[in-house]
Amino acid sequence: MSVQQTLSILKPDVTRRNLTGKINAKIEDAGLRIIAQKRLWLTRAQAEGFYAVHAERSFFSDLCEFMTTGPVVVQVLEGSDAVVKYRDIMGATNPANAAEGTIRKEFAESIEANSVHGSDSEENAASEISYFFSRTEIVG
Ligand code: CMP
Repeated sequence: MSVQQTLSILKPDVTRRNLTGKINAKIEDAGLRIIAQKRLWLTRAQAEGFYAVHAERSFFSDLCEFMTTGPVVVQVLEGSDAVVKYRDIMGATNPANAAEGTIRKEFAESIEANSVHGSDSEENAASEISYFFSRTEIVG
């Protein structure tokens, strides 16, 4: 086990329904520490830049549109095996396939409005964290 950091986004469906605290409680109950956090309203350019890896996918435009429909909360989470641990408590991308007890099973509205994003590897976590945070904003 190694201490890692991962990038989390609470998506516009979360802020719209006032669920930030409930999801943060799940994150902390899982043993992850929120070591940086800010609420942003993404521009279209910011959303497209963040999801550039999906630029060729059919859902890219709709995804970027959805991510600009309201505020998001971007976070850096730290803990043992944080990348995999967070993906475990997030649940499957499509809430229809998400396991009981996971964030997406409990809160997600659809595969698009699926409440949370988490980095899928330590390498991507580092680049996603630097997309939103400077080093001085991360307080471990
Ligand atoms: P996220 O973890 O933020 O990464 C990419 C997002 O694209 C994903 O969560 C989903 O919310 C969204 N998405 C929309 N449609 C699809 C799809 N058909 N397959 C995968 N992801 C999708």
